[in-house]
Amino acid sequence: MNIGIESLSFFTSRYVLDLRTMAKARGVDAEKVVNGIGQEKMSVPPPGEDVITLAANAGHQALASIDTDSIEMVMFATESATDQSKAGGIYVHNLLKLKPYCRVIELKQACYSGTAGLLLARDMIQQHPERKVLILMSDIARYGLNSAGEITQGAGAIAMVVSSQPKIMTIEPDSGYYTQDVMDFWRPNYRDEALVDGKYSVRIYLKALTESWNLYHQRTRIGFEQFARFCYHLPFSRMAEKAHKHLAKINHIDLSENELATHINDGLIYNREIGNIYTGSLYLSLISMLENNPQDMSNQKVSLFSYGSGCVGELFAGQVLPGYRNYLNSDLHQSLLESRKELSYPEYSDFYNFAYAEDGTTQTMPSFDTGCYRLSQIKDHKRIYEML
Ligand code: HMG
Repeated sequence: MNIGIESLSFFTSRYVLDLRTMAKARGVDAEKVVNGIGQEKMSVPPPGEDVITLAANAGHQALASIDTDSIEMVMFATESATDQSKAGGIYVHNLLKLKPYCRVIELKQACYSGTAGLLLARDMIQQHPERKVLILMSDIARYGLNSAGEITQGAGAIAMVVSSQPKIMTIEPDSGYYTQDVMDFWRPNYRDEALVDGKYSVRIYLKALTESWNLYHQRTRIGFEQFARFCYHLPFSRMAEKAHKHLAKINHIDLSENELATHINDGLIYNREIGNIYTGSLYLSLISMLENNPQDMSNQKVSLFSYGSGCVGELFAGQVLPGYRNYLNSDLHQSLLESRKELSYPEYSDFYNFAYAEDGTTQTMPSFDTGCYRLSQIKDHKRIYEML
């Protein structure tokens, strides 16, 4: 039985900051941002947009051609949850009008938890092939103003339907994973901004990649050369270059610049424009690779490396299905990116500093473009959403 991705879409904020604008405001050389970090722009969420509205928009797109009554489980993966208790996926379940006979849970492990969702869903479908799972990965990456991480922010969500009738990619059963207790990036409950030991986080990412690959290869005997493309978790797009050179090196492969570009470049295009979307970042890279690769990828094997600080890494493989292009949302995604409104630096700063009510008073949100769903009010400490 084939199990894998039947439907796949992303949504991102309707507002965007050109990182050259940020570099200018910060007195940083724009070349560092564009070439050193590899980022062009970042999506910035306006007041009234949170991980729930981002995920509902992505879910709405991914479910367009799916019988919603077949969804038996919703897994909501996020690092930027809105509640310590209630799963964000329950709001989305309601906004998307899914049937009540459905499990909904929230998953957490930094940027890795969406992968846990995908691989757990695959195992559940093995037992119950008639059931489908909706996986939502939604995040707002937020670092301190003027910190080194600020240029690696972003906002967006991925929605994916996993089933025994995959149309885009099958997910192979074996993987290699690695866990180590480290403090490379974390966010205590009382903080809105992540704390990070940036250079250390890059080194730990590469270590988790080595260990995950070694276990994967030991278990499957599948080699580097058997993959046509490589997608990585992308906190910033140059991370893929560092990761891929590292993977080639540990496999004793002398990678040419052409091979490097072929293996990873199509997968970097959307992330360069959106920024880090944490849990969804790897899958944004997968969408970017599938939608921007001029070659037909049918029957090709793709390596997927997921990393979540703290840390857990996992490397697994997918095989692209013939006819996959008919199931992509390329035009919708292109127009989403092209129609974003560009922010000035003061507008970015206002969005960043917008304060949500924390004292139980009623706060009505100002009206901004947040797609088909918005957070309209916070009242008595409750978030109230509406469909537009
Ligand atoms: P930094 O101190 O701003 O930058 O930190 P740098 O000094 O290391 O420079 C970056 C690159 O730009 C270097 O190139 C410089 O040479 C180059 P490299 O050595 O890497 O090849 N550079 C220039 N290039 C052209 N023209 C110039 C110029 N100047 C310098 N004028 C860092 C960068 C990524 C560490 C920082 O932005 C940061 O802390 N980001 C947040 C943490 C992060 O993204 N970590 C990645 C791994 S951890 C992860 O992926 C998990 C995560 O997604 C969270 C989760 O799991 O939930 C973050």
